[in-house]
Amino acid sequence: MGRTGVRRPFMDKIVIHGGKRLSGEVQILGAKNAALPLMCAALVGDRPTTFRHLPALTDVATMVRLLRSLGCECSYADERTLTLDPRGVAQGTFEAPYELVKTMRASVTVMGPLLARFGRTRISLPGGCAIGARPIDQHLKGLEALGAQITLRHGYVDLRADRLRGADFVFDTVTVGGTQNVMMAAALANGTSRLENAAREPEVQELAIVLNKMGAKISGAGTPTVLIEGVDRLDGVDHAVLPDRIEAGTFMVAAALTGGDVLLRDAPVEYMQAVIAKIQQTGTRCEAEGGNLRVVAPERLKPVDVVTRPHPGFPTDMQAQLTVLASAAHGRSAITETIFENRFMHVPELNRLGADIVVNGNTAIVRGPAQYTGSTVMATDLRASASLVLAGLIAEGRTEIRRVYHIDRGYERIETRLQALGADIERHHDAPA
Ligand code: EPZ
Repeated sequence: MGRTGVRRPFMDKIVIHGGKRLSGEVQILGAKNAALPLMCAALVGDRPTTFRHLPALTDVATMVRLLRSLGCECSYADERTLTLDPRGVAQGTFEAPYELVKTMRASVTVMGPLLARFGRTRISLPGGCAIGARPIDQHLKGLEALGAQITLRHGYVDLRADRLRGADFVFDTVTVGGTQNVMMAAALANGTSRLENAAREPEVQELAIVLNKMGAKISGAGTPTVLIEGVDRLDGVDHAVLPDRIEAGTFMVAAALTGGDVLLRDAPVEYMQAVIAKIQQTGTRCEAEGGNLRVVAPERLKPVDVVTRPHPGFPTDMQAQLTVLASAAHGRSAITETIFENRFMHVPELNRLGADIVVNGNTAIVRGPAQYTGSTVMATDLRASASLVLAGLIAEGRTEIRRVYHIDRGYERIETRLQALGADIERHHDAPA
C-alpha cells in the first residue's frame, strides 16, 4: 500500500525467476478486441444486451466507465457477465471525453453507434499512442459517406445526422475499428451500404454476428466486401464473446520458449492459422484436440521470418511475442511490421535482457539463441509488455517488469495463470517506480 494506504495498481511490478518449463492446461478467456466493440454495439439496440465470457481487463472496465458516462446502464451478474441497457442514453451527453479516449483508443468505436441511434455524438480525437499515430480519418470518411455532418474543433469531432443513408464506400486502408464503426452506423441507415477493402479480422466477423442477432442484415463480414441493408431498429441480444486468439498465441509462445507442453482450452484455432503455421515453423508441435490446442516445444527452436498483415495474415498483435520466440531460435530471423509505424518498443528492453535484435526501418533482424539474463525492465505498451514477461520466463535469474498496468489492459491475471503452468512469477504491489 502507498503512504495513503490506497493501492496504486500503476505501481505494480512483476518478478520472474526464469528457467521453469511450463506444462498443464490454461483456459483461454474472452477476446478483449471483440469485447470492446461489442460493448459499443449495445448502444444501437433499443433493449438491453447481455455479454458472457467477458474478460476481467482494465480496458473492459474503462469501456464500462465510458458507456455509463453516456447514460448506458451497465450491471455485472458475475465477473464475466455484463448487461448493458442503452435506454438511458437519450438523456445523456453523447460525448466520449478526452481523458477516456486518451486512456483507451477503442473508445472511438462509440461514434458509429451513437450517430446511428441518436443522430449526434462528440468524440475526442484519440491522439497518438506508443505504437503509432493511429488516426481515425477512415472512420470519419466512412461516416461522412453515410451522410454525417462532421466538424473538427478543439481536439474534438462533432458528428450530426438526422438519418444516415446507405452508401458505397471504399476504405483507403484496412482498418479494424473503422470497419466496425461504419458497419454499426450502416446497420441503422436508410438503404443499403457496400463497404470495400473492409477489415476481415475475426472481431469484425464477431461484431457482424452479434448485429445480425440484434436484427441487422449484414453479409460478407470476414471478406473485403461487406453488404449492409439498413433496418429501422435493432433489438438487445445475449451473446458469449469468442476466445482471445492473441492471448492464445501468447501462451503458445510461452510453451514453445520454455520447452513446455501446454493445452490451451478453447483456443479459437480456426482464427489462428497464420500464428499456428509460424510457430510450427520453429519446430513446435501444435495439435488441435477437440476444441483445444496442444503446444509441445521442440528440443531446439528453428528461426522464422514473419511479415505482419491484416487478417488472415500474421497479426501485428503477435509480433512482439514472436520476436521473443525468434530470439531463442538457433539462427537468424527477420520480423517485418507493416501495420504500425512504431511497434518495436520491446526491442531495446529485450536487448537489455540479452537479445541480439537490430531494427532497420520496419524490419527487426533477430539473431539467436539469446542468452537472456534477468534485469529490471519497463513495460511500454500492451504487447511489448507481454514479450518482456515471455523473455523473463527463460532469462537466467531475476527479471523485474515495471508499469505492468500495460499488461493488465489485455491479459487477465497473467502471473496467476503462468504460475499455474509452473512459472516462478509473482506480482508485487505498490513497488517504487
Ligand atoms: C485494432 O486497433 C486492435 N484494437 C489493435 O489491437 C490491433 O493492433 C489493430 O486493430 C490491428 O489489427 C482493438 O480491436 C481494440 P486499425 P485499430 O484501425 O482498430 C491505420 C492490441 O494490442 N489507420 O486496424 O485501432 C492505423 O494508424 C491492440 O490489442 C488509419 O490510417 O487498428 C494503423 O496503422 C493494439 N486511419 C492501421 O491503420 C484510420 O482511420 C491499422 O489500424 C484508421 C486506422
